[in-house]
Amino acid sequence: MNTAPENPDASMRVAVDPARVLEIGAECHYHSGLIRRPVSSRGLEQTKYQVITNMKIVASATMLLLAAALFAQPAFAAGDAAAGKEIGYTCLGCHGIEGYRNAYPSYRVPKLGGQKAGYLEIALKGYRDGTRKHPTMVAHASSLSDQQIEDVAAYLASIGGETVAEGGTQGTSFDKAAACTACHGQNGISVNAVWPTLAGQYQDYLLNALTQYRDGTRTDPVMSAQATMIAEEDVAKLALYFSRLKGLETTKPD
Ligand code: HEC
Ligand code: HEC
Repeated sequence: MNTAPENPDASMRVAVDPARVLEIGAECHYHSGLIRRPVSSRGLEQTKYQVITNMKIVASATMLLLAAALFAQPAFAAGDAAAGKEIGYTCLGCHGIEGYRNAYPSYRVPKLGGQKAGYLEIALKGYRDGTRKHPTMVAHASSLSDQQIEDVAAYLASIGGETVAEGGTQGTSFDKAAACTACHGQNGISVNAVWPTLAGQYQDYLLNALTQYRDGTRTDPVMSAQATMIAEEDVAKLALYFSRLKGLETTKPD
């Protein structure tokens, strides 16, 4: 039932062969030393791994970062959604209004419906602890305790998110996005509790976030490095691509 979104640059569309992706994955494990290179069936292995393409190298690098990121994952605790409801109510004054805009610079307030609790918690701590600088969000987060952040994250993650649960947009690809899907998911839907889903997020918000990682206004040990590797001409295309996948929704108060 899912319809493919218009590709930001049709010339960049690539077909993804799942068998090949698995092959690339296996190659990465060899690089990171997670599994032993097989000693038998040499001939077969050589034919399989002989062809070194750029894509393979990029994928290998990404998988290494992914492995590093997995070990560096911050711990997060599950909050109490019922306790977070009261605080959450004030948040919906902005996050609950479809298309609501941030005054300056003018981009839309991010959708939170379907975003994972672990990531919401990390983002809120980022505003509170200084790795993210948005003044209004800093003001909101700085008065919250760890427990309140966990609770409001649990509350927001408990409402909305049907599109994400359905799996989003299947069967599309954009070659430049291949460097992102290892963490942000094949359909732009994160498979990890502490990484953000990008599918369906507002294009202008994604673009602003990427720009901030690139210029150092927003910092993150994993994403800052990723963002600086994106070619200038691809930044807006990537934001557009992920925004057109089905996923996140504006939170509707329950
Ligand atoms: C006045 C409007 C406003 C209110 C009220 C508000 N927010 Fe935000 N929120 C924003 C804007 C704008 C951003 C994007 C900031 C940026 O670019 O870093 C944001 C970003 C966020 C993010 C990061 C999303 C992401 O994808 O990284 C989270 C999480 C969040 N808000 C949660 C909350 C919570 C929880 C509350 C209530 C305690 C709240 N917000 C109240 C406007 C608001
Ligand atoms: C190794 C894992 C990894 C890879 C690969 C990766 N990201 Fe990220 N990304 C993250 C993490 C972790 C965060 C959250 C960082 C934070 O808390 O600020 C993030 C955050 C983001 C955000 C901000 C989302 C929000 O809601 O504010 C955007 C946009 C983004 N990534 C885009 C991309 C794009 C585009 C690519 C590919 C070019 C990419 N990422 C590759 C891990 C990754």
